[in-house]
Amino acid sequence: MKRSALRALAGGGLLSALLAAGLPGDDAGGRQPAAAGADWQWQLPPGVAPPPVPADNPMSRAKFELGRYLFYDKRLSGNGDISCASCHPQARAFSDGVALSIGAEGERALRNAQPLANAAWRRSYTWANYSLTTLERQMDGPLFRTDPVEMGINDGNLSTVLARLAADPHYQREFARAFPGQPRPLTLENIVKAIASFERGIVSFDSRYDRYRAGQTELSAAESRGLRLFRSEQGQCYRCHGSADFDDQMAGFSRDLPFHNIGLYNLDGKGGYPFPNRGALELSGKAADMGRFRSPSLRNVALTAPYMHDGSVATLEDAVRIHAEHGRRGGKAGDGRLNPWKDAAIDRIRLNRREQADIVAFLKTLSDDKLIHNPRLADPFAAKHGK
Ligand code: HEC
Ligand code: HEC
Repeated sequence: MKRSALRALAGGGLLSALLAAGLPGDDAGGRQPAAAGADWQWQLPPGVAPPPVPADNPMSRAKFELGRYLFYDKRLSGNGDISCASCHPQARAFSDGVALSIGAEGERALRNAQPLANAAWRRSYTWANYSLTTLERQMDGPLFRTDPVEMGINDGNLSTVLARLAADPHYQREFARAFPGQPRPLTLENIVKAIASFERGIVSFDSRYDRYRAGQTELSAAESRGLRLFRSEQGQCYRCHGSADFDDQMAGFSRDLPFHNIGLYNLDGKGGYPFPNRGALELSGKAADMGRFRSPSLRNVALTAPYMHDGSVATLEDAVRIHAEHGRRGGKAGDGRLNPWKDAAIDRIRLNRREQADIVAFLKTLSDDKLIHNPRLADPFAAKHGK
């Protein structure tokens, strides 16, 4: 959405004051001190409140910008081979286009890499781990995980990784700017804070759908029918993908237990999903949590194939059809339609093929072209090499 249009829509309220102060990173008012987050402005459509930000890691432009470098920097992995962006590239809305990503040591990740846009608003992170409630804590996973390795940092190579970054004058300067007043700011804790700030700044509310909502464009007949079905009792989609981020995690859109079994597997006829992808059960140990995963945000969903927690569904058409058929049928996965732990809302879906196609047409309007081309979110190293 255009800033001017947003401002007009927002009238004279707080939002317009925020917007008038500029985009994140707009150098409108010249250099400002980086401390305390005073220089960060969210750019959000009407009705979307700024996300929660931990008190000990307020947003600032300097941290966001430093975090961008770190997110794209292969020197941050144990063997120097991969970066966060290897599995979360901008061109695919910060997901990676393969079913299971490959980590620094060639092992496959257990689940499908998630797109990161609007991650700041999620109440829990990853597909089914409800104990990870901040981006800072989530990062222990990619940085240090050994089963399988993602970035491959460990006690043995952490000091080497830090020394690699410290040897770069850019980082010497930028850590000091992002964490003013600290005698030795280049620490693991500050790396995590800066990357989390960058992630919070990956915001996507500028799709054709958003411009339609702002009265700036029309949807086609099929897209409009799809939107209506999406929000209807007939489609049921809104129940689990109904927030402004098209998930059910965003603050203000509350459910008691926002994890759902949609009937992808039924290995043993008792509803079993394959280990270690049994959803919330992996953490809770409760039978009723079998196969329960977080409803993914559907923003940019046309850019983030393949789908589902394990990337086992290739196309958007198939993802919608599986919901409409009340589960995945037969084959090695078992008959998911008969999964006893399945969410009842899935069985209430009534969509014929034509209606499913309309919903797919609507979902494609959620792609945010500016997100995937925004230079403020882009690989700074690629730019340096003249790409
Ligand atoms: C080897 C590939 C790989 C690398 C490298 C990687 N990730 Fe991920 N990322 C994943 C996968 C796979 C998931 C889903 C994890 C799960 O559900 O268990 C994920 C999930 C996430 C999530 C959760 C998103 C959500 O919506 O809940 C965040 C945030 C994230 N990664 C950030 C990062 C950051 C920051 C880095 C670099 C420090 C990074 N990732 C490096 C593969 C990767
Ligand atoms: C009961 C809650 C629920 C309802 C209702 C629901 N979904 Fe989902 N949806 C989910 C969950 C949970 C997943 C992930 C399941 C998994 O990975 O095991 C998902 C996955 C998806 C995906 C794949 C996205 C990705 O990034 O992998 C699409 C597309 C989707 N849903 C669209 C829809 C549409 C369209 C409707 C309405 C016809 C709908 N959903 C109704 C819960 C729901």
